[in-house]
Amino acid sequence: MQLAEKIRVGALISGGGTNLQAIIDACESGKIDATMVFVGSDNPDAYGLERAQNQRIPTFVVDYKPIVRDVKKDPQAVLPPDDFSLDDIIQKQSLYDKQSDPETARNFFISRAIAEFALLENMNTFSFDLLVLAGFMRNLTPYFIDRVNTDTSCPRIMNIHPALLPSFPGVDGYGDTFRYGCKAGGCTVHFIDYGEDSGPIIGQRTFQIEPDDTIDSIKKKGLAMEWELYPECIQLYAENRLKAVKKTFQLDSGQTYERTIVEILPFK
Ligand code: GAR
Repeated sequence: MQLAEKIRVGALISGGGTNLQAIIDACESGKIDATMVFVGSDNPDAYGLERAQNQRIPTFVVDYKPIVRDVKKDPQAVLPPDDFSLDDIIQKQSLYDKQSDPETARNFFISRAIAEFALLENMNTFSFDLLVLAGFMRNLTPYFIDRVNTDTSCPRIMNIHPALLPSFPGVDGYGDTFRYGCKAGGCTVHFIDYGEDSGPIIGQRTFQIEPDDTIDSIKKKGLAMEWELYPECIQLYAENRLKAVKKTFQLDSGQTYERTIVEILPFK
């Protein structure tokens, strides 16, 4: 029997890494045609690093905190990477709007580019096909995204988010879902783009929110679904079945709506 070729997957994490563990387990059991080649973190204390080390997966840390602190303390003294262009990043990004304080935006993008340069240096010592964000709690900027997505027709950074996007982007998807009084919640895997949790959707799972549910109980339901959904989406990528397609829709109002969506191709 001929074995399918495995894709090489790197991960970035910030915390406990239960999604990372689910992906590692799916790789180990052969449930998905993938091998984990590195795990990086912005947080030296992330427990997920230990999970990776237990499986002998190489790890690295780029601690964002001192970088952000140095840029805040003396913004002019800190130099961005040589290939960084603030104009290019400001023009592409959609994390800050036109009303935002330019100095704040500048400091954000410079500190992130410094951190992202270090992430890329570490990542590029490995060869990888796909980067998965598994509880990585930092927004990545166009500086980083463009250097990973070198072929724009083939995005290769996936994220998992604890809400039914496009509702409740941000850092507390399950909490936001619960506080809003939603009667259903869910999780989403998507490719990342230049916005916050706004990229093309690959897969979603939903659950009912019952009257006696709490934030903790819906987190539990949601995480259990995340652990199934993420490996499934990685497997679709491994099977080369995800195609990002730019669509233009005509609205009844006469306006057009443009969006890149993911088509899931049939199994060959
Ligand atoms: C998960 O719920 C994931 O969806 C979420 O963080 C948690 C990480 O848990 N990610 C985000 O909120 C990204 N914006 P884990 O470390 O146990 O996998």
